[in-house]
Amino acid sequence: MSVLLAYATHSGATRTIAETLAGALRAEGLTVELVDVEEGPDPSGHDAVVLGSGVRVESVEKSAATWAKTHSAVLSEMPVAFFSCSGSAADPAKAGRQKATDTFLAGAAFTPVAVRNFPGWVLMDRIPLHERVLLTSMRTPTGDFRDLAAVEAWGHEIAPLLRG
Ligand SMILES: Cc1cc2nc3c(=O)[nH]c(=O)nc-3n(C[C@H](O)[C@H](O)[C@H](O)COP(=O)(O)O)c2cc1C
Repeated sequence: MSVLLAYATHSGATRTIAETLAGALRAEGLTVELVDVEEGPDPSGHDAVVLGSGVRVESVEKSAATWAKTHSAVLSEMPVAFFSCSGSAADPAKAGRQKATDTFLAGAAFTPVAVRNFPGWVLMDRIPLHERVLLTSMRTPTGDFRDLAAVEAWGHEIAPLLRG
């Protein structure tokens, strides 16, 4: 049982979530290929896919959306789980909803077997100056909001769903 775990990141938080998920899925006995979507991984030849993306300006990363579109025919034929990684997911008032996820999935060719919006980090030293200015003007809270124990638990939860 082979799973492609493809992720799109800008400042690195989504990669750390993907790495934690990969560990949990491997502990469940799945074979996992962990790849940045920028490398153009091929989902055919795998039995299931987990796609993860960071969120910027209320959208998933363009690279994730383009990759999902390119491989829509293959993805529509296999179990696919999706997760986002964002600043707002740390806000309890948002109750785990993420507009970027909802918009992306509304236009996707696949119906996901599982969806989760994880908090990431907003670390000024990891983003370019012009984005720091934008985030500061939006009064975006900064810090590391990741909950890797929750990520690991989700990995164990979705393993049977990916097996189909
Ligand atoms: C320019 C910029 C725009 C962002 N826009 C949003 C947003 O619209 N909604 C949100 O919840 N988080 C937003 N964030 C926070 C990111 O989602 C967060 O930093 C996340 O960890 C990014 O994932 P990455 O580190 O894998 O790139 C933004 C961050 C940056 C730098």
